[in-house]
Amino acid sequence: MALKRPKGTFDLLPPGSPGIDKHNAMNRHQLLLERARETLERAGAKYIQTPLFEALELVERGVGESTDVVQKEMYSVSSRGSEESFVLRPEGTASIVRAFLENGLKQFPAPLKLWTYGPMFRAERQQEGRYRQFHQVDYEVIGSDDPLTDAEAIALMWRVLERVGLKNLELKVSSLGDPPDREAYNAYLRALFAPHLERLSPLSHSRLERNPLRVLDSKEAQDIALIAELNPRSLLGSLGDTAKAHLDKVCTYLSAWNVPFVLDPSIVRGLDYYRRTAWEVHHAGVGAKAALGGGGRYDGLAELLGGPATPGVGWALGVERLLLALEAEGIPAPAVAGPLVYLGALEEGLLENVTRLALELRHFASCEFGYRAKKPGKHLEDAVKKGAVFLGLIGPDEANARTISLKNLERGEQVVLPRADLNHYLQTHISTEN
Ligand code: HAM
Repeated sequence: MALKRPKGTFDLLPPGSPGIDKHNAMNRHQLLLERARETLERAGAKYIQTPLFEALELVERGVGESTDVVQKEMYSVSSRGSEESFVLRPEGTASIVRAFLENGLKQFPAPLKLWTYGPMFRAERQQEGRYRQFHQVDYEVIGSDDPLTDAEAIALMWRVLERVGLKNLELKVSSLGDPPDREAYNAYLRALFAPHLERLSPLSHSRLERNPLRVLDSKEAQDIALIAELNPRSLLGSLGDTAKAHLDKVCTYLSAWNVPFVLDPSIVRGLDYYRRTAWEVHHAGVGAKAALGGGGRYDGLAELLGGPATPGVGWALGVERLLLALEAEGIPAPAVAGPLVYLGALEEGLLENVTRLALELRHFASCEFGYRAKKPGKHLEDAVKKGAVFLGLIGPDEANARTISLKNLERGEQVVLPRADLNHYLQTHISTEN
């Protein structure tokens, strides 16, 4: 039997491939990436790329030992004869903060805005919107605890979503408090659930010890029923003065910029490094439990990784989930442009002539050529299949006169041009048409 790709992964395919489904069209990925790049770089973000695998310890310390990601979803990477433990990265933030510390990036004026795009790996149970290799666009601002950086980060995420054309979005903002707020709240939850331990699911039972906040995020029916009955007060309602003032400022900026959000105390986030602001964007087409993206502030992360205290805030959008949302809203995939020019030789002996011209043209325009000499009608068919704007043909007459026959396939016009005028002619065409 022919071999298959691993479950929960995709081949990203050129548009028009028979195997295209809603997740894997390369032109859709590239459009999202382009919109994100433009939006983030206009705001001063610099691109960064970190390795696809990292030390196990980085992820354990950064993402947190109690998280589902570390407990259940890591892919280990080993090499023969080496004792070192590596894992495929499940997310980008811990790696970017490590790279910031390791490469002395604090010498840039603070805060430093960084962004990246690439595959992440989590061994999750596969279902719609949840894959084992998926892609994130990730934005991080390192070196400031100013609530303006949180608000700007949220607004940039919102702008990327708007620019890809999505409408049915809901931005939910909350705060996970400062560490003392969180400790007090954890103690409150443990005390609240303590008399009812036998009614909690085994998973929530163990979470109550390690990370009680995650109990509130349980999808188990018995936990949901118990939580409804006990009706715990929210962490958002139990913030200390500093975290509360920070959140208020974030909300004030978002309102001033007309970024629509709701305060939602149910935002828990699945990674341990968050403190203060946390948010998610949800979309009806992707399902209630699956966020398109999420982020938050992680002021303690640099210290967990062995560096000096360095505040930071950021977010990641899941590309495949964005594609599901685009599909749900019926937003069409971008048109795929063919070459500006398709060149064809009418005799084998003229191939050298044609290909030399093609290589020259590629200095300023896209150009493909036929690999064999053919009749004009056959070249025309090939050029149309490629989606070319112009078909250029060179036969013996054109070769002798150093000209080219050029047909505009969109308008049907045909001209014979001196070869020396071709660049100018095409450039005029590009500037008037686009
Ligand atoms: P996260 O919430 O774990 O946050 O993931 C962000 C987004 O990645 C999710 O909202 C979702 O769209 C996508 N995603 C996560 N897991 C999967 C999966 N198995 N299949 C498909 N898509 C998935 C983070 O990763 C943080 N690093 C975000 C961040 C950056 N916080 C601060 N800076």
